[in-house]
Amino acid sequence: MTAALRDDAMRGLTSQPKWLPPKWFYDARGSELFEKITELPEYYPTRTERELLRRYATEVAAVSQADVLVELGSGSSEKTRLLLSALRDQGSLHMYVPQDVSESALTSAAAQITEEFPGLAVHGVISDFTDTLHNLPRGKRRMIAFLGGTIGNLVPDERAEFLAGVRDVLGPGEQLLLGIGLVTDPAVLVPAYDDAAGVTAEFNRNVLHVLNSRLDGDFRPDRFKHVAVWDADNEWIEMRLVASAAMRAHIRALDLTVDFAAGEELRTEISAKFRLDGFEAELSASGFGVERVWTDPLQRFALVLAGRQ
Ligand code: AVJ
Repeated sequence: MTAALRDDAMRGLTSQPKWLPPKWFYDARGSELFEKITELPEYYPTRTERELLRRYATEVAAVSQADVLVELGSGSSEKTRLLLSALRDQGSLHMYVPQDVSESALTSAAAQITEEFPGLAVHGVISDFTDTLHNLPRGKRRMIAFLGGTIGNLVPDERAEFLAGVRDVLGPGEQLLLGIGLVTDPAVLVPAYDDAAGVTAEFNRNVLHVLNSRLDGDFRPDRFKHVAVWDADNEWIEMRLVASAAMRAHIRALDLTVDFAAGEELRTEISAKFRLDGFEAELSASGFGVERVWTDPLQRFALVLAGRQ
């Protein structure tokens, strides 16, 4: 995966404006910081989705009858337990395949799930969720879960490509379960990505620590300011790192010098929020039919169960 990091860093940091893909946040420290984010009072997505799963996992399981659950971007698999329990209780589940870029998160999650769910085959896959799809295990009725709103990290073109890729590996009737953040009040959205305790800021700066350690860089993360901006036209949150002064950094493994002007921005993540009608249209354009949608009372988050047509 270092080759992919090298390519992304080379491309993103020589672009104008500069950017880096969000998957590089998640080394062991980044995954821990993300887990801390999920506990912040401002960060509503995780607890909202957990509540939806708590309430509706039995309904999901009843509609799904899946024998194999593949989870993309599984992280700690914390909320997935609710789904696994419901699928197990309903009798259909044989195998769980968690996939994540973070080896540390995946290893400990897979070990815990194996212990908690005797009789369940657990096969962890360390990869980027866009690379996993070619090697899915066989099953009779597989469900791919992509929770947390992580599909929002993709821009519309990447999303279409991703959905087409999922469609191509599934058979008719197999399913995709998506957790998506919905468009809501920016006064709620922005603090979720810019918390008072500064955990998200540290998570954002972690991508520079990753470049330093993996590619022998000399970025000064503390000299970058975290910003989260709601882009109302694109309906996504954009996270950026802003250089607090003119700076020069070197990435020795790439033999690359990176210059920042004072105030120059580096885009590190987009987190798109959706409207249900638009999202259903994207799914149907990709060959999926929406079977069920569950939302919270404040309409901030949705679970969407779609079937491959
Ligand atoms: C893990 C991609 C769902 O976009 O909300 C949290 C990542 N970034 N705070 C999100 C994140 C800043 C998160 N996802």
